[in-house]
Amino acid sequence: MFPVHRPRRLRKNETIRRMVRETSLSPDNFIYPLFVTFGKGVRKEISSMPGCFQESVDRIKKHAKEVYSLGIPSILLFGIPEQKDEIGSGAYDPHGVVQHAIKAIKDSVPGLYVITDVCMCEYTSHGHCGIIRDGDVDNDSTLELLAEEAVSHAKAGADMVAPSDMMDGRVDAIRFALDEEGFEEIPIMSYAVKYASAFYGPFREAAESAPQFGDRRSYQMDPANRREALREVELDIEEGADIVMVKPALSYLDVISDVKDTFDVPVAAYNVSGEYSLIKAAGKLGWIDEQRVMMEVLTSIRRAGADLILTYFAKDAAKLLNK
Ligand code: PBG
Repeated sequence: MFPVHRPRRLRKNETIRRMVRETSLSPDNFIYPLFVTFGKGVRKEISSMPGCFQESVDRIKKHAKEVYSLGIPSILLFGIPEQKDEIGSGAYDPHGVVQHAIKAIKDSVPGLYVITDVCMCEYTSHGHCGIIRDGDVDNDSTLELLAEEAVSHAKAGADMVAPSDMMDGRVDAIRFALDEEGFEEIPIMSYAVKYASAFYGPFREAAESAPQFGDRRSYQMDPANRREALREVELDIEEGADIVMVKPALSYLDVISDVKDTFDVPVAAYNVSGEYSLIKAAGKLGWIDEQRVMMEVLTSIRRAGADLILTYFAKDAAKLLNK
């Protein structure tokens, strides 16, 4: 009888579909980004990222509790300092806004795993990810500051640090500094493959970190490159990265897949601000079914090979998954 093979047999109803489903999605896979700002009682919605906020320490503690109660195990913390300067002093200030937030969150929600973004761009007056020399970011002098920043986060109680600057050798510099200060048990999740992407647009409003001149193409990767991504990951693993990240996620699913196939460390993918805002905007306009598109996108990132997803959708998706 024709045809013998009928793949539709295994799509007949939700029970059999559930049984043969290849990819799973759970709040366990999510890391939720939070933005801490100075002041008190502040909770300001980011206009280009509906549902996301800049919050002062007192408010972010409550938010962290809510995130944890939804079954999301981890947050990624970004800081917006009161003052910025040429050398991003706020980044490694022991009394900086992120350092305070880490302490406050670990005190009130000890079970929540706190990861910190290690970068200079939110703290520098020029908005670049390091020290400027001759009109460009100077790699090696930036490494010292990144290492100091990572150590200050660890001292404040961070569970993991995540360098996002794309300087060469920063995982090595951070690993060395952490070990020297007795933080050999703090893992590093490196933004190993970070492209110079226009999808970061809304984030730069959120973190107030848009570069004041030029762009980030002398340190972030060219979106046209695929093989170079493997080289970046290889170097970071050699330098001691425990988890490697690909960022953004959606235009780079091929890269996530390559990294997953080639290396044996956990792979994270950052479903970035622009990817979030596009869906939120189209959802608001009624042009797409926001919830279904969200779940499809998150599933596709997992299917491509990501173990962990950094996503602004974490709370919305967890609420659906917990039903
Ligand atoms: C900072 C940093 C950026 C993002 C995460 N860390 C922005 C950038 O490199 O300009 C982007 C996150 C997002 O778009 O959601 N170095």
